[in-house]
Amino acid sequence: MGRARRMGGAALDVVERTLTAAGLGESAEKLTADARSYWQQGDGDRWRGDSHWRDASVFAGNDLWSETGRRHLDLFHRLARVVERTGPLGTVLEWGCGGGANAVHFAPGAAEFVGVDIARATLDECGRQVAAVTATPFRPVLVDPADPEAAVFGLRGSVDVLTCFYVFELIVSQDYGARLLRIAAELLADDGLAMVQIKYDTGSFGTRPRRRNYRSRLASMTTYRIDEFWSLAVECGLVPEAVHLVPRNELDERYAYFLLSKPAGGHPGGPA
Ligand SMILES: C[S@@+](CC[C@H](N)C(=O)[O-])C[C@H]1O[C@@H](n2cnc3c(N)ncnc32)[C@H](O)[C@@H]1O
Repeated sequence: MGRARRMGGAALDVVERTLTAAGLGESAEKLTADARSYWQQGDGDRWRGDSHWRDASVFAGNDLWSETGRRHLDLFHRLARVVERTGPLGTVLEWGCGGGANAVHFAPGAAEFVGVDIARATLDECGRQVAAVTATPFRPVLVDPADPEAAVFGLRGSVDVLTCFYVFELIVSQDYGARLLRIAAELLADDGLAMVQIKYDTGSFGTRPRRRNYRSRLASMTTYRIDEFWSLAVECGLVPEAVHLVPRNELDERYAYFLLSKPAGGHPGGPA
């Protein structure tokens, strides 16, 4: 029974990716509506796990929730040394902060922590987790997934460090990712740094963006080839400084972390 289900799943996987490769992915409007209704439902163990809430069963009896954020902070410090940045974090903004697994590690060293998410319940949970570990001010920002630019307009140029983990894989398209990179370039102060994690496409058929069936396939909606994302970041006004690969971890596989800087005075590849 289990084997038959797995074979059925694999066949469906091929069908979905073939349709998308033939230009028959679902529309951005449909995927955005599905994403909104999934992330804003605010209930159930699968949803809590996907939103990285500490009390989800996937994090029960292990240290993964805390370990994930600890590794990300450590990686940020290691990559920041590439650009000789070792000072205080300043204002940190996490795009898609979820239940606070990263926030509890970044916020204690920050002057302010801005959590951006499309789910109100998740922002509340992130705020609770941050308040339990530090007095650093937490600013929740709720964004509409269809209009991510609007809610953060007032924060332009004020962010020293922008992070985004386990989000680019579940956004609705590569173009949407370009919007997020442009937002990052707008939000960052001159010489600010972004660390963005993507799920990478190796060039093999099974690692391409899926762009269908959002609710059941959310963690493989959008992938990029590593060189493609590097070039996209440049087009969006950021300078790729370093990339770090994690072919597999406890949660999933094919992760690439990009350290991106916002050059003072803009960049020839992007907006000034
Ligand atoms: C897998 S969780 C990751 C949480 C956190 N970044 C972490 O690493 O633990 C994904 C989060 O992204 C949020 N999200 C989904 N689409 C988003 C979007 N377009 N903009 C901002 N947040 C989004 C979800 O509500 C959810 O909280």
